[in-house]
Amino acid sequence: MGNLTGKVAIVTGAARGIGAEIAKRLAKDGADVAICDLKAEWCEETVKAVEAMGVKAIGIGVNVACSAEVDQCVKEVIAKLGKVDIMVNNAGITKDGLLMRMSDEDWDAVLNVNLKGTFLFTRAVSRPMMKNKDAEGNPCGGSIINIASVVGIMGNAGQANYTASKGGVIALTKTTSKELGSRAIRCNAVAPGFIQSKMTDVLPEEVKQNYMAQIPLRKFGQVSDIANAVAWLAGPESAYVTGQIISVNGGMIG
Ligand code: NAI
Repeated sequence: MGNLTGKVAIVTGAARGIGAEIAKRLAKDGADVAICDLKAEWCEETVKAVEAMGVKAIGIGVNVACSAEVDQCVKEVIAKLGKVDIMVNNAGITKDGLLMRMSDEDWDAVLNVNLKGTFLFTRAVSRPMMKNKDAEGNPCGGSIINIASVVGIMGNAGQANYTASKGGVIALTKTTSKELGSRAIRCNAVAPGFIQSKMTDVLPEEVKQNYMAQIPLRKFGQVSDIANAVAWLAGPESAYVTGQIISVNGGMIG
């Protein structure tokens, strides 16, 4: 029996990278997991890895920026897995460039996926989470965990759209915690620093070295560092924690 046995989690952007690791980590703790990404077939590898841990897994194709698809996705999860206890808003994209030259399309694309997508899933799961009851029939709500970023706190040249979206995710996290706290729904964010993944692999060596110089622990983070923080926020050990932004960044900023 793990900490999350009997719980159902949705993880977006879970085909690869941080999202895939979060899905596997929650499964290790006993949760059934809906693995969501743009295309269902991209989720197959994560679905297999999660099933191998002895829990249920389903893969769902969903664009987090599309309201109708998000609502449909949550309905499918409830139909197939019974309920939603844990929502991890992880799907995210970058379209970097200096703001003087940034196109409307690049601004909208990043805000739509990173910020609107987080809002849409939060709205869609809030009502089902309010209906969750524990064994004694008491409301037991759920845990919403948003993946923000260190640059959503400190800003970053060349990432006006991305930093604004992640700053928005941080504010949305705090508001969600205030609106839904009385219904036993907690909402927190994890703000990763520089994590080794496909998103950061593409950065030039010089940019990577600039980041390294700002990291007191002198190493880049691993996807498991983020998954561990998410698992803690999802489980009972963080029962009195809500509205918080947990920085997992090797000490980059306090
Ligand atoms: P990644 O690019 O490896 O994975 C992102 C996943 O999201 C992909 O599977 C992609 O298909 C999916 N996705 C993109 N748009 C989508 C949409 N519209 N609907 C559904 N799924 C969509 O990125 P990574 O590194 O795993 O990042 C995960 C999260 O962590 C993102 O929110 C990112 O902003 C955040 N983050 C990552 C950091 C890093 O250093 N890698 C640092 C700080 C935050």
